[in-house]
Amino acid sequence: MADDTVMIDAEELEFAEPLPLCLLAAQLSNLQRLGGKASIEKLRQPVADRLERMNVLRGWIEARPASKSPVHNFSALQVARANCIDDANDIANSLAQKIAQFVPPEFCHHSETMTRDGVVHPLGYMLTELLENSLTHGRGKGFAHASAWIAAQYYSSGDLIRLAIVDNGCGFLKSLHDHSAVEPKSNVAAIRAAFIPGVSCNRSVGLVRDSLNAGLGLTVSRDIALRSNGAVWAGSGDAWIEQPGREEDSAKRIQPWQGSMLNFEIHRAGLISFNFRDLFSKYPHPGEVPPISFTD
Ligand SMILES: Nc1ncnc2c1ncn2[C@@H]1O[C@H](COP(=O)(O)OP(=O)(O)OP(=O)(O)O)[C@@H](O)[C@H]1O
Ligand SMILES: [Mg+2]
Repeated sequence: MADDTVMIDAEELEFAEPLPLCLLAAQLSNLQRLGGKASIEKLRQPVADRLERMNVLRGWIEARPASKSPVHNFSALQVARANCIDDANDIANSLAQKIAQFVPPEFCHHSETMTRDGVVHPLGYMLTELLENSLTHGRGKGFAHASAWIAAQYYSSGDLIRLAIVDNGCGFLKSLHDHSAVEPKSNVAAIRAAFIPGVSCNRSVGLVRDSLNAGLGLTVSRDIALRSNGAVWAGSGDAWIEQPGREEDSAKRIQPWQGSMLNFEIHRAGLISFNFRDLFSKYPHPGEVPPISFTD
């Protein structure tokens, strides 16, 4: 529009997956921080129903239609914004619990509790790790203002889960710039290095809950998704990589985004077929498996 306002016409919007939704929320926040204004207009009722929870976009949606179906039997999308490391556990816990509520009965080969735990524990681990990364590493190098947007999409039938996290922090290259594993000093090399077990910008400094950073959070999160027959994408700066850190990864150039973004596809049936704690033993310096205590 003519002044410094961006108007987003949502009339033709059918659905938004977690990653683009997080990116939109992050971008709108950046705009607001720079003094700009934005509004999302003409959002249709069925789309509002399908998106279910758009709290992160609330401030920008003109006359948001109220969702008529709080418990949707097709799919649900949960989105949260985290501004502070203290929120990480609660957000991870609540998202993981909500996703696990929808484990279809055909996947319950074991007891219901074992099945729920088989979903909640690996997802809780991933969500906590990803939020901690964004709210500690992402906030380094002069990006103390950074926030994280995290979203999960899940279905009451079938077993696909999509998870995404986007932050407007310093990005992988700034965080790992001086690390010897990042050569050349490019976004692609920094993303790949972040997925090498043991690579960390804080390898010897205990910043997160008095524990050392083992440099395993991203590696294990990726492995959980791949072991479930899922997939992983990571982006930062002008780089976007599918299956980062694997021999068969593929990188491409994108419109630059300073912070980091991660996108996961996970299959619930695959998740409950293995014990994610076993993944740690693959790595030479596994560090301590973090204790997990999730409440119901
Ligand atoms: N959101 C992010 N923004 C900027 N840099 C990041 C982000 N996430 C990860 N990194 C970089 O990638 C490195 C590896 O991340 P990873 O989660 O695997 O290990 P860690 O956080 O250092 O250790 P651990 O997760 O085992 O406690 C981090 O040390 C950091 O330099
Ligand atoms: Mg980490």
